[in-house]
Amino acid sequence: MESPYILLISLLLISFFFASRPALAYNIRAIFTFGDSIFDAGNNHFNKNCTAQADFPPYGSSFFRHPTGRFTNGRTVVDFISQFVGIELQKPYLELQSEVMNGSMKEYPSNGINFASAGSGVLRGTNHDLGVMPIQDQLQQFQTLVDQNKIDKDLIRQSFFLFESGSNDIFNYFLSFDPPTLNPDAYVLSMLTQVEDFIDRLYRLGARSLAVFSLGPVGCVPARAVLPSAPVDRCFGKMNKMVKNYNQGLENLVKNVHIKYPGVAGVYGAVYDIVQLFRAMPMRYGILNVSSACCGYGTLGGQMQCGKEGYYICSNPHQFLFWDYFHPSEHTYKLISKLLWSGSQSRIRPFNLKTLANIALLHS
Ligand SMILES: *[C@@H]1O[C@H](CO)[C@@H](O)[C@H](O)[C@H]1NC(C)=O
Ligand SMILES: *[C@@H]1O[C@H](CO)[C@@H](O)[C@H](O)[C@H]1NC(C)=O
Ligand SMILES: *[C@@H]1O[C@H](CO)[C@@H](O)[C@H](O)[C@H]1NC(C)=O
Repeated sequence: MESPYILLISLLLISFFFASRPALAYNIRAIFTFGDSIFDAGNNHFNKNCTAQADFPPYGSSFFRHPTGRFTNGRTVVDFISQFVGIELQKPYLELQSEVMNGSMKEYPSNGINFASAGSGVLRGTNHDLGVMPIQDQLQQFQTLVDQNKIDKDLIRQSFFLFESGSNDIFNYFLSFDPPTLNPDAYVLSMLTQVEDFIDRLYRLGARSLAVFSLGPVGCVPARAVLPSAPVDRCFGKMNKMVKNYNQGLENLVKNVHIKYPGVAGVYGAVYDIVQLFRAMPMRYGILNVSSACCGYGTLGGQMQCGKEGYYICSNPHQFLFWDYFHPSEHTYKLISKLLWSGSQSRIRPFNLKTLANIALLHS
């Protein structure tokens, strides 16, 4: 007899609960992203000084159906993670900034901001001549918003902070017209010093859920075809050695994060190992071509950027590990994202992003 009333009251309570705050599948309300072209959602497009661009066809052709400034044929890892968390894809900071400045938007959105800039690195000087934003400047953009109270402090505590950068620093180490003064180990150490400083500043700005992703095997990108010292029939071992060295340093930083910074949960995504898995067993992941770019020009499709005059494009981008000279296809990004979201400790440690999203409320 009473059960209909109990049901009604429960429904009222439930609807009150959902009306008073947005329904969240996880304890994460926003995502703030820092890094390079792997993550860039279009910042460079809104930076008129910047020549590292992917805002022309056929970029974006497989998912958004138009170029967005993302350096792939569809969504990036950040986009997939947003979808898994159940929040709207974040816009690039520079787009939001102009929307807030011209009044078409009242305030910065509550689902987070993407600060990543293609071509940038953890070293300030990397691709400086291309007009890119290094991680230090990306963080300064975020800090300015925090200082001006344009981002809610509680929101920051309930956000994912995603970081991936370093591929461009290491790739450029091997460019013959930019001879490095440091030996490989010293160069990697100088990179790690910058990342350590970055994490420190992020913590002081209130970040509590941090995901640091390793570099993929950069020595295997089709763009190595432009390096005189790199082989084209196999990956560039010297470059991958540096990448592994840097990744090991990143993992050590992340391992200590919860000790150094009380209340912080940090995870390390082993993207290098994930991509090597795809290269070793491509068929299992629906990949038919792990060596060449789907879209590009010349040897391995790596000698020119996709979309530039004279480029060719494959008939099915989903069958390629690489979309263009440097970047994975959306298919590859989706596979990586799934493993980062719910994979085992051999993919992301000490726990996956799904777990990070569940525990986040404990330290908010
Ligand atoms: C672009 O370059 C001009 C002149 O060098 C500079 O004043 C401006 O701040 C730069 N804009 C961005 C977004 O970096
Ligand atoms: C405001 O800036 C955004 C982003 O640059 C642009 O898309 C939009 O058209 C602008 N709106 C107005 C009213 O100028
Ligand atoms: C990969 O694709 C490139 C470009 O389409 C082609 O030349 C190459 O033979 C392919 N490799 C394999 C193993 O199918």
